[in-house]
Formats: sequence, structure tokens, C-alpha cells
Amino acid sequence: MNNYNTSSARTIFPNRANVFASVIIEFLTGQNCEMNNILVTGGTGVLGQHVCSQLDRAGLNFWALTRNPHPAAYFRQVAGDLLRKTSLDSALCGMNSVIHCASSGAANPDADIAAMRNLIDAAHHDKISHIVYVSIVGIDHLTWFPYYRAKLACEEMLIESGIRWTILRATQFHELVAYFLGLMIRGPLMITPRGGRLQPIEANAVAEVLTRAVREPRSGRLTDIAGPEVHSFESLAKSWQHAAHRRKMIVSLPVPDMRFRLLRSNRLYHSGCEPVGMSWGNWVREHASELNPYISRAQPKPANALTAAR
Ligand SMILES: NC(=O)c1ccc[n+]([C@@H]2O[C@H](COP(=O)([O-])OP(=O)(O)OC[C@H]3O[C@@H](n4cnc5c(N)ncnc54)[C@H](OP(=O)(O)O)[C@@H]3O)[C@@H](O)[C@H]2O)c1
Repeated sequence: MNNYNTSSARTIFPNRANVFASVIIEFLTGQNCEMNNILVTGGTGVLGQHVCSQLDRAGLNFWALTRNPHPAAYFRQVAGDLLRKTSLDSALCGMNSVIHCASSGAANPDADIAAMRNLIDAAHHDKISHIVYVSIVGIDHLTWFPYYRAKLACEEMLIESGIRWTILRATQFHELVAYFLGLMIRGPLMITPRGGRLQPIEANAVAEVLTRAVREPRSGRLTDIAGPEVHSFESLAKSWQHAAHRRKMIVSLPVPDMRFRLLRSNRLYHSGCEPVGMSWGNWVREHASELNPYISRAQPKPANALTAAR
């Protein structure tokens, strides 16, 4: 459990209070507290919420960065916008490490580059000792896709920053696959893209690796991670329908969308990926009845509701 009581964990308060608390404890006990205060950017997102749950379970001090703090948030939040340098300086004050999960997504890749640049500048200013960054498997082979090109540029900026860094590349989250499958329903049909395979992973398993990494003194690229199984979209669709008690006719068609060109590249996973977490089939059985987090994230709710079924 986090070493803060539940009521304070629900409040939003300046992170300077944490630094002050460690000085007081040090003074009273004569011991060096050496607190590792962690900022989770994207702490309200699909992955970030799992990271916050894992950090909480590990008893670490952390804050979730968000542009829109919510007074009833389950974990402590700190307001900040990665695209506004001044707000970042204050959000990072008193922090030692950052797990950087925030992203504007494929719709605005340049924003991720600007966000990484601002984060690195602020991290230098606030003497952040370690940044852990989550990236995507295969991006160096798929730089024709603007989002992946931006992710690669972010990795390079971080590596050259002079700050201790850890980069973890993961495959597509089960949560994202389930979201896309939901979008593929057209009346009585479910239209899936023909060709290409995925090796999706549960976001919670990615969060576990990031949580371990932020406590490690070493820096560098971790082994790429993926879920335990490779699937075609058709097979993902079949198990999703089975778990969700849907009976749509699955029709596989060539879909002329950039994202499905990514899929057909077969570069989104590779044999060197370390398999971690639940298989797609098990995950979808447990989560089929839940509202997909990519749809529901607009409505703040306790982060551990995502894992409550475990
Ligand atoms: N989804 C996948 O399948 C997948 C696979 C591999 C790697 N990844 C990587 O994992 C990371 C997390 O992905 P996700 O799907 O969990 O993300 P997500 O659910 O879309 O969440 C995005 C988060 O970014 C935050 N954010 C966006 N712009 C921001 C800004 N300007 N300032 C501060 N915060 C900002 C949002 O916070 P607020 O709205 O609260 O401010 C939100 O918490 C990304 O880096 C992604 O590239 C994803």
C-alpha cells in the first residue's frame, strides 16, 4: 500500500508537500529517507492507470500528471500540460523519476515530440534522475507512419538527453484491439482487415514492467515485450465475439487504411519479444462485459476498477 492514507491519496495537493514530509521524517528519525517520487505522465490513460495501480501496490510515492485534475480521482494527481513548459516545471518539482506514458496519439504525432522536448528540458531544470519511456515494437521499420516516426524521434531525444533513461517497447494493447474490434461492426457484419497479424499484450503487464524499471538503477533499452500469442484479426474477432456473446458475420476485406498497412507489414511483433501477461483469449473473457477504457476514459473512475476482476 502507499504510505499515505486513503483520504490524502484522493486529494490534489502540491508535490512540494512530499519533499517537506521527507525532510521532516529525516529530521525526526535521523535517517535518510531517499524517497523516489515518481511522476506518471498519462497517469489517467489506459496504460497510465495500470502503472498507478502497480506503483500503489509496490508502496511507491507517485503522482499522475493530467491536464484536468479530478477532485475524486483515486490516485493523487498533479495538474500539468506537457505542451506548456511552465506548468511542467511546477509539476516536476520534488520528483525524482518520471514514467512517461502520455501521448496525443496518432492524430497528433508532432505533439508527442514537443512533449518529450519539454519534458527533457523541465527534467534538466528539476534534476530528474530517471525517465522511463514506453514505446512501440517495430517502430524503426515503420517510419513511414507519422506516429511511429514521432515515437522513434522521442526515443532518440531521450537517449541523447544526458538523463538516465529506460525505454520499453511493447506491442498493441488488448484494450486497443478490443476498441478497434468494436468499431468494425457494421450492422450484421464485422468487417476485419485482411492480412497481417498481431501479438497483443495486456496493458497491465506493460505497467508491471515499467514499475519494475523505474526502481532499477540501470539505463537502456529493455527487451521488447508482447503478449503470449500471435493472432490474425479474424481470430481476434472470433474470440472477442465469443466472449462478448456477439454473433456478427466476420468478413475479412483489404482495408485501405494506414493503420492496417502497419498490420500487414508483420513488423508489429518479432520472435525476440518476451511474452508476458494474459493471452488475448483469457483477457477478453475477463473484460468482455466492461466498457472499453478507450471509450470510458472521458468519465473519471477509480483506476483499479480496470483490474478489479482479477
Ligand atoms: N495503445 C497501445 O496499444 C500501445 C502499445 C504500445 C505502446 N503504447 C504507448 O503507451 C503510451 C500510453 O498509451 P495509452 O493508449 O495508454 O494512452 P491513452 O489512454 O490515450 O492516454 C493518453 C494520456 O496522455 C495524457 N496526455 C495527452 N496529452 C497530454 C499533454 N499535452 N499533457 C499531459 N498529458 C497528456 C492524457 O492525460 P489527460 O487527458 O488526463 O491530460 C492521457 O492520460 C503511449 O506512449 C503509447 O504510444 C501504446
